[in-house]
Amino acid sequence: MLEVIVTCKRTEAEGICSFELASADGHPLPAFSAGSHVDVHVPGGAVRQYSLCNSPAESHHYLIGVLLDPASRGGSKAMHERVEEGTRLVISEPRNLFALAHGAQRSLLFAGGIGITPILCMATRLAQIGEPFELHYCGRSAERVAFIETIRASAFSGHVHFHFDDGPPEQKLDAAAVLAGFGARDHLYVCGPGGFMEFVLGAARTAGWQEQNLHREYFAAAPTVKADDGSFEVQLASSGRCLQVPADRSVAEVLNEAGIDIPLSCEQGICGTCVTRVLEGTPDHRDMFLTQAEQALNDQFTPCCSRSRSPRLVLDL
Ligand code: FES
Repeated sequence: MLEVIVTCKRTEAEGICSFELASADGHPLPAFSAGSHVDVHVPGGAVRQYSLCNSPAESHHYLIGVLLDPASRGGSKAMHERVEEGTRLVISEPRNLFALAHGAQRSLLFAGGIGITPILCMATRLAQIGEPFELHYCGRSAERVAFIETIRASAFSGHVHFHFDDGPPEQKLDAAAVLAGFGARDHLYVCGPGGFMEFVLGAARTAGWQEQNLHREYFAAAPTVKADDGSFEVQLASSGRCLQVPADRSVAEVLNEAGIDIPLSCEQGICGTCVTRVLEGTPDHRDMFLTQAEQALNDQFTPCCSRSRSPRLVLDL
């Protein structure tokens, strides 16, 4: 855990604030790679993941961008309303679950709205190391997307294409055209609302992209509880102990209550912190962390949100 001070809070666009965080003890902050995020302990007790958007070459501060979610469960609202310059916050060290691939020939970056936050860091990094890339930044209008002036003033602005919903038709994203003519070592990165990400990933699959070249990071999860959720049993392989998971509880909750420590962070199936090996049974995958191919193997799952299709899951615990 790190203690940081907010050294600058800025309104970047309608409903979006950025926060510069510096180490409270004045020391350099831990290094990070493009695509990393930190867990921020928000006033009020929530823990939220925010991507680092500044250059990974910087160690004097981290920059995060926060969209005020009208349906906020406490995270973004508290960041907007209770965090000011001078506020002290506790954050985790950076972790990267959305890293740039090594040896890419070309990188295609797609950002939808606040999904620009990890993508901006990636663009900065790719420009620094001179690797070919293009960035497609989609949003409702120029007033509602963050960091637009930063991008326009950057050395890599020539790599960036803006696509605004309220703009003329010729600037709209033509995903099929952008994704055509790719090479085997081209990599695609997308972050944004779920529908936007599915649109970009679907277009890439239709164009023939391989799954291993598609990288995505969700920043908000759809609700994972279903009306017809039932109960099931989890068994711990090490002791044979069985625990009943009721319809209204998560596997992680049941395990943690029974004294089995499952590390948790997002609790929404986004971050991968809780991934647990499954030895028997068929998980009902509800996460957005594992790839489709990984989910199909049914040998691991995310107990924070995923459930079971079989009456029992035997876990490697
Ligand atoms: Fe993040 Fe489970 S805690 S995926």
